Amino acid sequence: MSNSIGNIFRVTSFGESHGPCIGAVIDGCPAGLRLDFAILQHELDRRRPGQSQVATTRMEEDRLEVLSGVYNGITTGAPLCMLIWNRDQDSSKYDELQVKPRPGHADYSAQVRYGGFNDHRGGGRFSGRITAGFVMAGAVAKQLLYETLGVEVLAHTVSIGGVQAPRVSLEEIRGKTESTSVRCPHAPTAEKMIAAIEAARQSGDSLGGEVECIVSGLPAGVGQPVFDTLEGDLSKALFAVPAVKAVEFGTGKRLASMRGSAANDAYKLTDGMVTTASNHSGGILGGVSNGMPLTCRVAFKPTPSISLPQNTVDLGGMKEVELTLSGRHDPCVVPRAVPVVEAIVAMVLADHALRRGLVPQVLERKPS
Ligand SMILES: Cc1cc2nc3c(=O)[nH]c(=O)nc-3n(C[C@H](O)[C@H](O)[C@H](O)COP(=O)(O)O)c2cc1C
Repeated sequence: MSNSIGNIFRVTSFGESHGPCIGAVIDGCPAGLRLDFAILQHELDRRRPGQSQVATTRMEEDRLEVLSGVYNGITTGAPLCMLIWNRDQDSSKYDELQVKPRPGHADYSAQVRYGGFNDHRGGGRFSGRITAGFVMAGAVAKQLLYETLGVEVLAHTVSIGGVQAPRVSLEEIRGKTESTSVRCPHAPTAEKMIAAIEAARQSGDSLGGEVECIVSGLPAGVGQPVFDTLEGDLSKALFAVPAVKAVEFGTGKRLASMRGSAANDAYKLTDGMVTTASNHSGGILGGVSNGMPLTCRVAFKPTPSISLPQNTVDLGGMKEVELTLSGRHDPCVVPRAVPVVEAIVAMVLADHALRRGLVPQVLERKPS
């Protein structure tokens, strides 16, 4: 089984879409971190459905409850258990999908994997809702990274349904991402993305897209070659997010068609510090951070559940049939996935920073 990730900052994900709750346990979070619960809730609200017309209309309240590992608002070093309760669930439509699996979703593969014992309601463990647990753990990781190292993890939408955003500055990403419902800081592009999602929704279809994540302030020297490289561990964790189909770092697969002279990031000195003139490597060399911003792009496929008729197989009668879905689904998961990408990146980096000894296991001594 593999619902846990991380060596020291170890996150375990639990819960199913239509079970009682969804959450995460962090074992190994340093003692002495003062948690800002308003920020934790804010991160969950960014992921929550029903935020805008580009997301599903399901209303999930997603009020965070912290059950253990915190005393007087400060982490104790004991397992930190966090959850939200599942409330606005309609399981009535999901029995049919055990017999007629949705193309593009995990209904069929999950049934085969678990001998049909999996909780299929709402997609069960394969639902986008499990990412709420990732966001809780990631929000703690973000606070830990910021408090101890000044590391900032920021993601934003760079494409939806083929509509590409132009490159914008870090200041614009920081200041404007949350001001558009698709989380694209470039407002004119955001409008085109919203129109594309609306058109897809109207025709019963869905869209995919890409999220870029930029990590600033990560010191050089973080990463554990050869099997626990930063790229390897980040990719593994990012692929736990439903609908992720590709992850690239820096200039990514476009490096394959460049020459070494253009692809290499030349070293230079900035205020006496070793930096690079370009950042095609995305801040990672040899699986280890080099002190430049860590950049990665995460590609999401179009939401599988669409209302257009689709071909599937009736597993009861073993015949080919047509499936028409109803229900409340995101026409594009990308805007809601932005805080999820930040969370996953933060939890992996928190673990690696602890492994490297950059973050202590006790943050401050309690005054006696
Ligand atoms: C935030 C988020 C929300 C999602 N919402 C839906 C949804 O409403 N309907 C749906 O069919 N898939 C949704 N998905 C995607 C499916 O869960 C995913 O495609 C499915 O589990 C199959 O896994 P795979 O695409 O990684 O192979 C969502 C994913 C994320 C990250």
